[in-house]
Amino acid sequence: MVEREPGGAGHRQEAPAEPRLSCALVVGADGALGRAVAAWFLGHGWAVVGTYRNEARRQEAAAVLDVRSSGAAGRRLRWVKADLRRAAGAERAVAAGLRWQGRIDAAVHTAGLFATEAVVGGSWATWESMLETNVRTAFELAQAVVPPMREAGGGSLVLVAARAAARAGRGMGAYAAAKSALIRLGEALADELAGSGVRVNVLAPSVIDTPANRAAMPGASREGWRTPEELAAMIGWLALPEAASVHGQLLLA
Ligand SMILES: NC(=O)c1ccc[n+]([C@@H]2O[C@H](COP(=O)([O-])OP(=O)(O)OC[C@H]3O[C@@H](n4cnc5c(N)ncnc54)[C@H](OP(=O)(O)O)[C@@H]3O)[C@@H](O)[C@H]2O)c1
Repeated sequence: MVEREPGGAGHRQEAPAEPRLSCALVVGADGALGRAVAAWFLGHGWAVVGTYRNEARRQEAAAVLDVRSSGAAGRRLRWVKADLRRAAGAERAVAAGLRWQGRIDAAVHTAGLFATEAVVGGSWATWESMLETNVRTAFELAQAVVPPMREAGGGSLVLVAARAAARAGRGMGAYAAAKSALIRLGEALADELAGSGVRVNVLAPSVIDTPANRAAMPGASREGWRTPEELAAMIGWLALPEAASVHGQLLLA
């Protein structure tokens, strides 16, 4: 738009107002899956708010993301230091997206923690930490992000559980219980939000092909492992208009 400057002699082209970008909040954007999710959204032109807790890990992820997105990360990615086990952390992350782009169109919860421990001789502290990191973080995210999404008329919330939730094998009790609880949280939330435009889906991957898993299982066959990129593409697709009818689903990947 060209506007005449009041009282001015000539014309001056006003800088056009920045158009609002679709905005994704990625919890744990410095993690193996989280950074692939951030890369997917950046690659599709979205603004991304990524949460992190550790500065060294954030810097490493930021460098990778900048290369993968041909420098777009510098312009369309903002980081927020936030521990989602606390309401204040979730609120800070959501507020950053709202201040920047006016709404959050997609929120992706990739925060997670894995541990193996026998039940007998094990510690309740392990169960507590599994529940705090895998479930409470999603609970706090939902408290903070659902009201503004609902007010804006919609959005996509994706929670990342695990296929291991289906049945706990030896040593997997605390982790599988926490991921089961996360799936139940997603189901209840999806029913609560039916018809609101806010869509909630849970992705349950098998083993993800991450550097940490390659190091932990050096001799293992990687058949059936999922790459972070293929999972990120599923998560990203869930935020698109094409997925408007996908709500309350558990996607086994
Ligand atoms: N890797 C697998 O094979 C596999 C298989 C099935 C499901 N999953 C699930 O997939 C998700 C991603 O896995 P991943 O391999 O990418 O894990 P990852 O590399 O460890 O990434 C997890 C991310 O969550 C963040 N996080 C942890 N606690 C948090 C908290 N309290 N508040 C905010 N952020 C927090 C981590 O930050 P910090 O670095 O600060 O802890 C990290 O950025 C997890 O939910 C995991 O359980 C993984």
